[in-house]
Amino acid sequence: MKRYISWLAIACMTAAAGLAQAGEPPAGIPEGMGALPSTVPVPADNPMSAAKTELGKQLYLDPVLSKSGHISCNSCHNLGTWGVDNQARSIGHKWQRGGRNAPTSFNAAFWSAQFWDGRAPQLEDQAKGPPMNPVEMADDSEEQLITRLQAAGYTPLFEQVFGKNSLNFDNMAKAIGAFERTLITPDAPFDLYVRGEGDISAAAKRGMRKVADIGCTACHSGPLFTNNTFQQFNYGSDDGRKSVTGNADDDHYFRVQSWRNVAMTAPYFHDGAVKTLPEAVRIMAKVQLDTILSDADVVDIVAFLETLTGTPPQVTYPVFPRPAGHALNWQD
Ligand code: HEC
Ligand code: HEC
Repeated sequence: MKRYISWLAIACMTAAAGLAQAGEPPAGIPEGMGALPSTVPVPADNPMSAAKTELGKQLYLDPVLSKSGHISCNSCHNLGTWGVDNQARSIGHKWQRGGRNAPTSFNAAFWSAQFWDGRAPQLEDQAKGPPMNPVEMADDSEEQLITRLQAAGYTPLFEQVFGKNSLNFDNMAKAIGAFERTLITPDAPFDLYVRGEGDISAAAKRGMRKVADIGCTACHSGPLFTNNTFQQFNYGSDDGRKSVTGNADDDHYFRVQSWRNVAMTAPYFHDGAVKTLPEAVRIMAKVQLDTILSDADVVDIVAFLETLTGTPPQVTYPVFPRPAGHALNWQD
């Protein structure tokens, strides 16, 4: 009996020790890796409010932003498919294809600059691009778009957020930017693992160490798995950042893409030409690190990348303002 009790006591002590460890980060996580931050940077001139993000949600989802009345931000950055359209190159106005793959709108609030080539400093600048882009929403002018938003009935919604006479292009972009700052994907299996709240597979752990050992994390670093810089990627025919700066030194430079949710945002790279994640991993290793990965390493790295799929934002589909009894003046 005595012996039985002592074993029981040891079992209890072991269980208690196990509990004490829960919530502590496990050993062996490569330097810099961590959980997705829970707060996003917010610019001083566009503070967040519930009414603003609600308006931004309507504008993001409403095809009223497009000349045809058919294309919304959500057409290419679908909230139900991880903020992308899974097309190599997106379909816009009159079925035209754009020149690049649509990156996800999820977590975009964390990037140092928007677009593959970083030509928009922040979300508010970015949101002004698609409405005027002839292969995206194809509006003829800001005035045309603002007139349509007024006709749809958006005036009181803007005034509630921004005050009198506030339905304008800048405030449209501010509302959309504020909404996008809510599109964050926390609690990926990797995040739970680093917080000591869950585990990832042995293959994923090998992949985690591998990407650090071979140097992927020189660029895909920190909790965002991007160092938010522009780096040369000698692949394809797109000039990248050179087309923005005009500087020959920026030829084929692109913003380092985050690995957050990357398993859900195929196809890959700025031209969307690579259909699978294993293939993207092989190409990156070859082009950026002059390394040929073994099949086993690719499997492990992909298993690790899959642990970076977070929890998508839960978005309630809104009702858009519309005039009663007649359609808006859509155009071809
Ligand atoms: C017709 C498809 C299409 C529509 C409509 C569209 N986008 Fe995009 N979006 C893209 C493509 C393609 C890119 C990448 C273009 C580039 O880098 O040159 C992009 C880039 C972005 C980025 C940058 C993300 C990053 O990682 O750099 C954000 C944010 C974004 N769009 C938000 C929006 C918002 C908000 C709207 C609506 C106002 C919108 N998009 C409408 C296709 C579209
Ligand atoms: C020198 C910096 C650098 C290194 C090192 C690097 N990458 Fe990248 N990575 C980039 C850049 C830049 C992009 C954006 C490429 C583009 O514009 O198409 C990218 C894109 C990717 C993508 C595609 C993301 C998407 O959404 O299309 C994956 C996957 C990826 N990298 C994985 C890796 C892996 C795995 C390694 C190590 C084997 C690695 N990278 C090493 C800079 C780097």
